[in-house]
Amino acid sequence: MRQGNIKIDSISKSFDGVEVLKNISFEIKGGEFFSILGGSGCGKTTLLKMIAGFIEADSGAIYLGDKEITHLNPNERDVNTIFQTYALFPHLSVYDNIAFPLKLKKTDKKDLDREVRKYLEMVKLSDHINKYPAQLSGGQKQRVAIARALINKPKVLLLDEPLSALDAKLRQHMLIELDNIHEEVGITFVFVTHDQQEALSVSDRIAVMKGGEILQIGTPSEIYESPSCSYVANFIGETNFIGGEVVEVGEQFGFMESSSYGRIKFELDKKVEIGNKVILTIRPEKVKISKSKPRYLDDNDNILNGKIEEVIYSGFQSKFFVTVGDKLFSTFKQHVDFYEEDAESILWKDEVYVIWDSTDSYLLEVIE
Ligand SMILES: Nc1ncnc2c1ncn2[C@@H]1O[C@H](COP(=O)(O)OP(=O)(O)O)[C@@H](O)[C@H]1O
Ligand SMILES: [Mg+2]
Repeated sequence: MRQGNIKIDSISKSFDGVEVLKNISFEIKGGEFFSILGGSGCGKTTLLKMIAGFIEADSGAIYLGDKEITHLNPNERDVNTIFQTYALFPHLSVYDNIAFPLKLKKTDKKDLDREVRKYLEMVKLSDHINKYPAQLSGGQKQRVAIARALINKPKVLLLDEPLSALDAKLRQHMLIELDNIHEEVGITFVFVTHDQQEALSVSDRIAVMKGGEILQIGTPSEIYESPSCSYVANFIGETNFIGGEVVEVGEQFGFMESSSYGRIKFELDKKVEIGNKVILTIRPEKVKISKSKPRYLDDNDNILNGKIEEVIYSGFQSKFFVTVGDKLFSTFKQHVDFYEEDAESILWKDEVYVIWDSTDSYLLEVIE
C-alpha cells in the first residue's frame, strides 16, 4: 500500500445525543489532493480532527497506510494540521517558528538550518526570516504555518479552511501556491472547505458532505458534470432544474413533458420508464440564447421560447434570467457563446429562443 493512504471505516460520532458523523466510510489515496466540501456545520472539522487525533470516534476505525491509528495520540500519527487561525508563536521569528518542530526533536544545528532554509524558500519567505508574526500579512503568516507543518515531513497534511481569513485575490494566489507545494512535497493533502470554487480548482478528488454524510466522491469534473443528487448539483455551481414526466424512451435519448417548459429531449443517463417523474439539470453556461431562430439547429437541440426577465452585467460575462412558460428558467450565463450577431443586443424584455443540446443536460433524479 502506498504511503499516506487514509482509510475511514464506518466512523460515527455524536455530540450531546446529536449524530454529527453518520457511519462514514471512504478512502483517500496516498499523495492525493483530497477536498472535503460542505456547508457550515456538516461535520468537516469533526472528521478532520478525527484523522488528526484530536477527537475520538464513537465507533469505526481509521487507518494510515497499513497501520490503524484510531486510538493513537496526535503526535503519534504521521499527520500534521493547519488550522484556520495560524497558531504561530508570537514571540518567535519566522525562522524560529519554522525551526520549532525540529528543535523539539533536537535536530543537529546544521541539518536544522538546511531544512528551515529549504522550507523558507518553498513558501517564498526567505526575505523575511527575522520578522515576527505581528509584522507579517495574513498570507505570509499562512505560509509560515505551512512551512512549520511540513518540516516534520508528515505523510499527511490536514488543512481546515486554511484560506478563509484571506481576501479573495490572495486566496486565489495561495491556492495556486498550495497546489505547487503539494506537487513539490508529494504527500497527501486533505483540504476542508465550504467554497466549491476552491475545491473544484485544486482537488484531485472531492467528497461532498451534508449533515454528517458523504453524498458523493469524485473528480471535480465528475461532480460538476454528473452530480449524484439535486443538493450536489446546486451546491457545486449554479444550475437549472427541469421537472417532468417521461413520455418516450428510446435507445440513447428520451422525452419528458414538463408542465412549465413543454416537451424536452434528454439523454438517458439513468434507466427510466414511461410515466416516471424525473429531474433534469442543465448548467447555465451550456444554454444559448438568440433573438433570431438559429439556422443550424441540431436534432438533439432543445429549443424553447422565452423572454428576458433580467440581465446582470459583471464584466467578463453577463447573466440572463429568462422566463420560459410560466417559470423563470433560472440563470443563463453567457460568455462568448451567443448565436450569430445579436450578442450585444439582447436586452431586458426581449423575446428569445433558449437552446441547449440534450447531451449537455443531465438526468439527475428519478423521483417516482
Ligand atoms: N465539541 C462539540 N460539542 C458539541 N457539538 C459540537 C462540537 N463540535 C462540533 N459540534 C457540532 O457538530 C456539528 C459539526 O460541526 P463541525 O464539524 O465543526 O462542522 P463544519 O466544520 O462542517 O462546519 C455542528 O452541528 C457543531 O455544532
Ligand atoms: Mg469547520
